[in-house]
Amino acid sequence: MIQKNVIDLFRLTDKTAFITGGAKGLGTAINEALLEAGVKKLFFCGRGRHGSVDAESTRLTGLFPDVEIIGHQCDINDESQISSMIEEVKTQTDQIDILVNNAGVTWAAPSTEQTMKSWHRVIDTNLTGTFLITRDVAREFMIPKTQGSSIINISSLLAIQGNAEAPQVGYTASKSALLGLTRQLAVEWAIHKVRVNCILPSFVEGLDSMAKMFTVNGSPIRQTLLDMIPLSRFVQPDDLKAVICFLASDASSYITGQEIVLDGGLSVKG
Ligand SMILES: NC(=O)c1ccc[n+]([C@@H]2O[C@H](COP(=O)([O-])OP(=O)(O)OC[C@H]3O[C@@H](n4cnc5c(N)ncnc54)[C@H](OP(=O)(O)O)[C@@H]3O)[C@@H](O)[C@H]2O)c1
Repeated sequence: MIQKNVIDLFRLTDKTAFITGGAKGLGTAINEALLEAGVKKLFFCGRGRHGSVDAESTRLTGLFPDVEIIGHQCDINDESQISSMIEEVKTQTDQIDILVNNAGVTWAAPSTEQTMKSWHRVIDTNLTGTFLITRDVAREFMIPKTQGSSIINISSLLAIQGNAEAPQVGYTASKSALLGLTRQLAVEWAIHKVRVNCILPSFVEGLDSMAKMFTVNGSPIRQTLLDMIPLSRFVQPDDLKAVICFLASDASSYITGQEIVLDGGLSVKG
């Protein structure tokens, strides 16, 4: 039996990655994680508001000048934009080994006040958009090569827990649906050596998106949330980076269809 050095199992050298929602927030930490672990080429996409795609490309190229980094502007709510982007990516590479489905939106309001517009916006992005990107990347790049690929869906702790403090019913439903998507695709595509797994983070600290979450109806709830977490801290971007590299790399080559809960013990607390 040939065994690899354990550090080599985590290296992403010679791999190409694609990250959705890579122009801001957690997506930028995911970009850095994959680049630090050695990917030779990195694609990411975002809607590109305020020049965010160009700004992130420039930032990453400054940090990793030897790696080819390509940002695409794409609204994943729009199937035709996804198709056009995939056609363009096909002219730029014939290899995508890692797909991280990070793009996501939420809409917090009591469930009785959720509008169809907010419901559709969240479901169309978090579930339908994620499926469409996954379908196209798998069909065009991963299934044909059969040498081992990894798809990582960023779900949420809310996929397995309700939230009375800041209800977001569409978000919770969409993130739960990603668990079913993960299991189905893992089983269906295992024959092609495409692994599909899911990460369920709780509250990540230091992001603009969380600043809103820490205030409900004008009242700060940060300390209330913190007091609930057994490890007494929120998720840090480094926590997510480590799990991303584990699931992206050969270190997890026998793991598919699984969920990794990144919550400091919150979900198992009685
Ligand atoms: N922050 C947390 O504590 C936390 C906890 C659990 C799970 N998550 C999940 O982690 C992921 C990232 O969250 P975040 O906190 O970094 O949020 P964020 O700062 O709001 O970033 C969301 C990302 O999704 C992209 N996006 C949204 N709608 C899109 C669309 N229609 N087409 C293409 N891209 C779209 C955004 O890109 P553009 O704005 O450039 O379009 C942005 O890059 C989300 O899936 C979120 O649900 C976050």
